Amino acid sequence: MQTLTIVNRKRNRTAPPQSSMAVDVMIDGSKYAAHSEERLIDLINRAGVKLAQVCYHPQLGPIQTCDTCMVEVNGQLVRACATTVSEGMSVSTVSTKAHAAQQEAFDRILSNHMLYCTVCDNNNGNCTVHNTTKLLAIEHQQIPFQPKPYEVDNTNPFYRYDPNQCVLCGRCVEACQNVEVNETLSINWDDPHPRVLWDGGSTIGESSCVSCGHCVTVCPCNALMEKSMLGHAGFLTGISKKTLNSMIDVVKGVEPETGYGSILRVSEIESAMRESRIRRTKTVCTYCGVGCSFNIWTKDRHILKVEPSDGPANGISTCIKGKFGWDYVNDPDRLTTPLIREGDGFREASWDEALDLVARRFTEIKTQHGPDSLAFISSSKCTNEESYLMQKLARAVIGTNNIDNCSRYCQAPATTGLFRTVGYGGDSGSIRDIENASLVLIIGSNTAESHPVLATRVKRAHKLHGQKLIVSDLRENEMARRADLFLHPRPGTDLVWLSAITRYLLENGLAHEDFLRQWVNGLEEYKKTLAPFTMEFASQTCGLPVKTLEKVADMIAEASGVCILWAMGVTQQSQGSDTSTAISNLLLVTGNYMRTGTGAYPLRGHNNVQGAGDSGAAPNNLPGYQSVDDPEVRARFESAWKVKLPSTKGLDNHQMVDAIHQGKLKSLYLEGEEMAIVDSNANHVAAAFIKLDFFVVQDIFFSATCRFADVVLPATPSLEKEGTFTSTERRIQRLHQVFEPIPGSRPDWKITRDIANRLNAGWNYAHPSEIMNEMASLAPLYAGVNYERLEGYKSLQWPVAADGSDQPLLYTKKFNFPDGKARLFPVSWSGPVEKSNTEFDLHLNNGRLLEHFHEGNLTYRVPGIKEKTPDVFVEISPELAKERGVQSGTWLLLISRYGQVRVRALVTDRVSGRELYMPMNSTESPVNRLTSSITDPVTHTPAFKETSVHMQILAEVGESPLPRVNPRFGHPTPQHGVEVERKWKRSDYSLPGSQLVQIQKK
Ligand code: SF4
Ligand code: SF4
Ligand code: SF4
Ligand code: FES
Repeated sequence: MQTLTIVNRKRNRTAPPQSSMAVDVMIDGSKYAAHSEERLIDLINRAGVKLAQVCYHPQLGPIQTCDTCMVEVNGQLVRACATTVSEGMSVSTVSTKAHAAQQEAFDRILSNHMLYCTVCDNNNGNCTVHNTTKLLAIEHQQIPFQPKPYEVDNTNPFYRYDPNQCVLCGRCVEACQNVEVNETLSINWDDPHPRVLWDGGSTIGESSCVSCGHCVTVCPCNALMEKSMLGHAGFLTGISKKTLNSMIDVVKGVEPETGYGSILRVSEIESAMRESRIRRTKTVCTYCGVGCSFNIWTKDRHILKVEPSDGPANGISTCIKGKFGWDYVNDPDRLTTPLIREGDGFREASWDEALDLVARRFTEIKTQHGPDSLAFISSSKCTNEESYLMQKLARAVIGTNNIDNCSRYCQAPATTGLFRTVGYGGDSGSIRDIENASLVLIIGSNTAESHPVLATRVKRAHKLHGQKLIVSDLRENEMARRADLFLHPRPGTDLVWLSAITRYLLENGLAHEDFLRQWVNGLEEYKKTLAPFTMEFASQTCGLPVKTLEKVADMIAEASGVCILWAMGVTQQSQGSDTSTAISNLLLVTGNYMRTGTGAYPLRGHNNVQGAGDSGAAPNNLPGYQSVDDPEVRARFESAWKVKLPSTKGLDNHQMVDAIHQGKLKSLYLEGEEMAIVDSNANHVAAAFIKLDFFVVQDIFFSATCRFADVVLPATPSLEKEGTFTSTERRIQRLHQVFEPIPGSRPDWKITRDIANRLNAGWNYAHPSEIMNEMASLAPLYAGVNYERLEGYKSLQWPVAADGSDQPLLYTKKFNFPDGKARLFPVSWSGPVEKSNTEFDLHLNNGRLLEHFHEGNLTYRVPGIKEKTPDVFVEISPELAKERGVQSGTWLLLISRYGQVRVRALVTDRVSGRELYMPMNSTESPVNRLTSSITDPVTHTPAFKETSVHMQILAEVGESPLPRVNPRFGHPTPQHGVEVERKWKRSDYSLPGSQLVQIQKK
């Protein structure tokens, strides 16, 4: 055993950026205060001075393609968007020179765009081209409209591109290249007829486009439009193409005589009329934990579009699911009537009958077998208020702590690792802090597909701002392909290499000694436990070269700030809690907490998995992570709820299944959770459900789990209710009701309230805000949270003090322990429990896909998503495919120790050797028929990722499970944004106003 000595080797840290200075700028004769790094266009906009700016978007920065923002600065014509203010600057936005340049630039824009606003679906008051025509008081075009020789491209299921309306501003290209960083779009500036290109000239449908919608969102006109808008937004836009063309001809015929002014006035009347029937409602995405928020435009129950703009987590960003994945809300299969089991089937029932039955059976079972014979599971898709009520029903009405949520399946180990070391079970900063890191280390997370918008911020920082990226994963996913260093350790061995590099850093003087001295307890004890973790041991165990591990350690030591992101590749292992702890230990040893650009980021899977835990839907914690066995805590809740509360920890999800098999648990009330498919060892779980005396399932569709229910209660999705979600950033956000619940369905909080009241609870909550007020009064973490503070796009990141102040970055003053110091928590290595052998010779990994969420109950109801990704598959490496004679489309039977599934092969170099990968999105062939009941001993999170299978080749060969239109088959064209310099080099380009300047000079 080697001993550890700390040597003093200097760490390399970069200097903080210098702050800007105050400057005064004259604009059109008035003085404005600015700061020295401010863009002139931002100052002009802040000052309320009206200036044309077609290509500028604050979240994209200066693109400089349109030239409409020309202003005169100290006598020179410049683009306001590309100019930084300086002391004494004198600006005219209205001089003759500036105005002529703006007009000339915009005239060129109009030569690329036919104005037919009155019959255009984009005539909603926010069309930049329309508004600029009005601002510049354009009456007649100098350069006539010139159609481009290209067809409209309709090949993407969600949006279409009309080259004839495209003003070549390049906003879409900038968004795709440098915000989404999917790098699909470009403009062929060198062509006689430039246009936007997908993959350099593919159709949209067969390109690498991931349908994130960034380009559509930022397009300043109708060139890129959501198909759900077309023919629906305007009063006259649903007319036939032939009539539409005739009307356009009429308008064009009128224009020479009347000018655009009167035509625009007509279109503005039509636009104003739309206000009466188009609603814009702010909501929060119901899929992953990034917490994107946006306005949903609706006309009656038709969703016109999703418009992201001001979301604190996402700005203009979305992924395919948040932007386009909402068809399920109006799906005809929605449950609209309570169902009661009758023999092998169900019959429809009234709400009163169903709720009376639930209350009666709960009472009978409680009387006969005691309160602990009942259990409750809340949904991490439901709101905080709904999880709060579910745990209150369990504890205060029934009298049991048998309450949990699905964070048990994914996030509980990460939460444990953080509670052990730093004191809060949440991300230590915000997405912005990740952007600020000089090194991001991603472990066991397919971030680009599972947390797509968060991934864009890392991709952008890596592409544009020199951020370094290390990825450790079994698969060469998109982030791995982009990484500076990609590690592929043996499955389930992350703890070993993490501990080994921590030891290496300590031994080689690369630890942050000052930080350790000031902020961390337990160093000496911890160092002793690192003894087994030599680089050689790690290399042997993980299958990684020592040189590579040293490189990782050196990159961490050299970085001025390190953020570590991890997800289910870490947590769904039998040592998930310990590996999460090892991550936090590494961050503490290197001083990577307490400032922006550092910290621990377990990426939360569901939209409200963080909030479900915060709200107390857990067997050991009351709301706000207050322990059920703390008498003081219980006393506070007992006084508020006026009941005696159970004091012993209840059963978690995993223990509930075992307790059903053992005959101890008789009744389960499950809210919004497809447990029969998403829990590990699905056959074992299904067998348990059959044994239940009474099973209530609450959902929006008749799920696979409903098949086992005694009562099915029709709930509503997020668009049909008020409430709050808490994202991975600990960000609490309000969702506002978009639609009324479809008749027959009810919001989950109302259903739970009504059941409780049938059990004499006397709850009189009339609105979710009242539930939040109660939770805030009892959970110090949420003390200052109320609906007024969350109105619209306002958000709060917990802990929130009573005065409403929140903490986007945790641990700025201390760690969350009584002495304010963090704790190094020793971990040891035991290795995966389930191992491959000669019979089960292949390792099966599993996880998410970009297009589908979880089992796919919602996303398979989106036809466009189904078109892109119609079915599940298993990824097989080219070498294994060759060895076994498998090709993409070969039907396989995967057999594990627990079950079997039939699935088609997809041969891909994303996986290698004998490692397979199967997405979790299937109800017919769910991967969890193959996974085991082995768990992390601390949290009972199933070791989903420790699965070995035998592969049997079936005779039939089908089509490839992924069609050609899946973006995987595209060929991106990375470039540095829109590359306007290529436009400027064209022989037919001159800077607007330059000819006027030359004439004046002569
Ligand atoms: S990936 Fe597709 S939808 Fe997203 S910005 Fe690029 S072209 Fe547009
Ligand atoms: S399609 Fe792109 S380049 Fe064309 S107008 Fe829209 S954002 Fe600008
Ligand atoms: S990244 Fe997550 S929260 Fe954002 S739109 Fe996509 S699924 Fe929704
Ligand atoms: S807004 Fe400045 S060049 Fe387009």
